[in-house]
Amino acid sequence: QYQIYVRGLQDAVPPFTTDLGALEDQARDRLGPKPYWYIAGAAGTGATARANRAAFDRHRIVPRMLRDATARDQRTTVLGSELPAPVVLAPIGVQSQVHPEGELATARAAAATGVPMVLSTAASHTIEEVAEANGDGQRWFQLYWPHDDEVTASILKRARTSGYTALVVTLDTWQLAWRPHDLDQAYLPFLRGDGVAIPLSDPVFRSRLERPVEEDPQGAAMQWLPIFSGKAHTWDELGFLREHWDGPIVLKGIVHPEDARRAVRAGMDGIVVSNHGGRQVDGAVAALDALVDVVAEVGTETEVLFDSGIRSGADVFKALALGARAVLLGRPYVYGLALGGAAGVEHVVRGLLADFDLTMGLSGCTTLADIGPDTLHAGGGGE
Ligand code: FNR
Repeated sequence: QYQIYVRGLQDAVPPFTTDLGALEDQARDRLGPKPYWYIAGAAGTGATARANRAAFDRHRIVPRMLRDATARDQRTTVLGSELPAPVVLAPIGVQSQVHPEGELATARAAAATGVPMVLSTAASHTIEEVAEANGDGQRWFQLYWPHDDEVTASILKRARTSGYTALVVTLDTWQLAWRPHDLDQAYLPFLRGDGVAIPLSDPVFRSRLERPVEEDPQGAAMQWLPIFSGKAHTWDELGFLREHWDGPIVLKGIVHPEDARRAVRAGMDGIVVSNHGGRQVDGAVAALDALVDVVAEVGTETEVLFDSGIRSGADVFKALALGARAVLLGRPYVYGLALGGAAGVEHVVRGLLADFDLTMGLSGCTTLADIGPDTLHAGGGGE
């Protein structure tokens, strides 16, 4: 626990900033404007992305004193798996746009730190390649649910066979939202061949193509578009996923308590309260505010995970205090990937876990069970 002081004595400056907010500026200098804005940008006016952060700022921790919090334990169980910390790497598509190793580097960093990664359907590498890079690590699979049952079944089977344990079904992005930064720069990275590795490597999808992928990769990518985008699925279809996935299923993108209730009724194993980092409905409720409502509705009945706006150990603490079982980290680890590949992702994850550990200790908490609603100021405490 003396490492931070000793490092100071040795002038051991870390390779990248330890401030996840400042990391964004460093990544901006490294990336060109197109990928940078694709990642940093949000929907519409950015109101929801700002609201995500403002909600964290409104909640304040009330540290407790004269408690022995020297020995701390972040371990937890999520969806039946033991995790070293309540942190998971969120599904982020097209990672090769920021680093040539893309999801392979993320998979190695996840394995090295022990946190699970969630592989996106819009990944730049295949399900099998990422599984191999992740080795003994924990991996979950995120589904953008295709409108072709045979393709869906094939992708799910590949993920199960490759050792992905949980299925995260993203509901809020059945159509891309109005994203001015990407529209202005005509930037759609996931269809430029970098974010379609999974369908293009899928035997069932390939069998649908008029011309082989090798002859016309761009055409194949365009054929993927109507299969995975443009139309929402409905509650009554969830049974199909249950039939084709024999592990835990969580629904990502739930923000309304009644939808959370429906998810429980539909026999789902958990939900991720998320507004996609403010990238879908501009003007949507801040994710942390939605977390409070959803936990009040179903918090004792299902596992409620959270993302959208996590930038520090204190943020992890606050989300847990408000009832999240674990959080998903989004943009910050992609900035780490941009700056330093697997080592950069590792730097970000280790920094976040260390920051969270110090926040726990200095707040008088030794286990995650100590982080309840009473650790936050009842009146919020923001400006
Ligand atoms: C995402 N997100 C996302 N979600 C998903 O289910 N599948 C995906 O392919 C992607 N792709 C993606 C790309 C980029 C560049 C971003 C920033 C986000 C959403 C992601 O999983 C998560 O919900 C948000 O990133 C969380 O917000 P923060 O932590 O980035 O603020």
